[in-house]
Amino acid sequence: MATIAIIGTGYVGLTTGACFAHLGHEVICADIDERKIARLNAGEIPIVEKGLDRLVDEGIRSGQLRFVVGAAEASKNAEFHYLCVPTPQGEDGAADLSYLEAAAAEIAPVLPTNSIVVNKSTVPVGSTRVVGRVLNRPDVTVVSNPEFLREGTAVQDFLHPDRVVIGSRDTEASIRVAGLYARIAAPIMVTDPVSAETIKYASNAFLAAKLSFVNAIATLCEAVGADVNDVVLGMGYDSRIGREFLRPGPGWGGSCFPKDTRALANIAKEAGYDFSFLDQVLKVNDDQFDRTAQKVLDAIDPTVAASTHVAFLGLTFKAGTDDLRESPSIEVLRRVLAAGVKVKAYDPAVMADDGRLARTYPDLDVELTSDPYAAAEGASVLAIMTEWDEFVELDFDKMAEIMARRSIVDARNLLEPTIPRRRGFVYRGVGR
Ligand code: UDX
Repeated sequence: MATIAIIGTGYVGLTTGACFAHLGHEVICADIDERKIARLNAGEIPIVEKGLDRLVDEGIRSGQLRFVVGAAEASKNAEFHYLCVPTPQGEDGAADLSYLEAAAAEIAPVLPTNSIVVNKSTVPVGSTRVVGRVLNRPDVTVVSNPEFLREGTAVQDFLHPDRVVIGSRDTEASIRVAGLYARIAAPIMVTDPVSAETIKYASNAFLAAKLSFVNAIATLCEAVGADVNDVVLGMGYDSRIGREFLRPGPGWGGSCFPKDTRALANIAKEAGYDFSFLDQVLKVNDDQFDRTAQKVLDAIDPTVAASTHVAFLGLTFKAGTDDLRESPSIEVLRRVLAAGVKVKAYDPAVMADDGRLARTYPDLDVELTSDPYAAAEGASVLAIMTEWDEFVELDFDKMAEIMARRSIVDARNLLEPTIPRRRGFVYRGVGR
């Protein structure tokens, strides 16, 4: 079993560390945030991630998983050093590598001879070379090993991946990194670093394109009178298309797809290729936010628009996470607010007293409620924006009584339309 340092304890770093410890490795996770490390050492998990608390607890108890402040402290005795720091989007659309470079510079002087630095962060094509340059340690190999973890199911995705991709021209280093995954049953693919980095971006951009396509088909369905649910079901039977990732919605978002799709367009431009296809993928997504907001606004009686409000159910970018970054719900919400309509919102993972919404989006003037009915009381429209299970169970008899107007915009096609319609609601879904 190996000794692994994990630099950065975001959802990728923490999941990677906890899962490697679960697989039997000795793992030391580092972060620059002292409070976060103190909380982790006390077994407190700063993010909502199914199963992660159990693995962290198990790792702390067995001593396989430790948390320290500072990358150098974690790296000084490790064989493998996983860089899991953020690569946010810079002002020019390109990924900002400053955290990655800072982490590499910090560990460079303490890296044991013959150890391996692994790039797990999503980094622009060519960054493995950049890390190598910053390290300036010819005795240390840099390997790319991109992550394909979905928020909310990251533990499951790590332990049961579709594939493990390793990018290195050094066969011995590739074999050593592959060995870390020995207890995982998945195809392991070894390629060069540039191809590994491209696989990551191409996968995310392809999935984003698939969703933009589905959302465009949903709009077409509305125009021609087809039912998108049946259309995607019929498409999904074709094994070349597949059933996954075909659900229409208010647009796609999150911490990866928007950033990575823009970054890939940028990478292509810098390499001399105008990847205008991706501009369309992004534009269709933006149009979807506009269209969803318009549906909400259309459902309001214009004569009472100034005195009424919309109830937003769901703020996170999808169910199963508390992440608000680039959330389609927030994008739609902004547009509704910009039209001068008030919003009350409820999300099971975003509470008023945790202050997260205000911290993430200080400019948003939204009242957060602690249950869906408090948001809906007196509202003209119920806008279902995130596919949380609890919204399927809503009591529409109660909703019919407390709302000012019986109108629903179901941006996720979450409900069976006959249920609210039977209670006199006007129901609008996506593409049906
Ligand atoms: C994504 C990738 O799936 C993962 O492999 C990568 O490493 C990180 O980025 P994540 O951002 O957690 O994961 O979210 P994902 O579950 O892929 O959903 C992204 C967006 O697409 C969300 O807004 C989601 O609601 C939307 N989506 C997803 C749909 O609208 N319909 C679908 O059928 C699936």
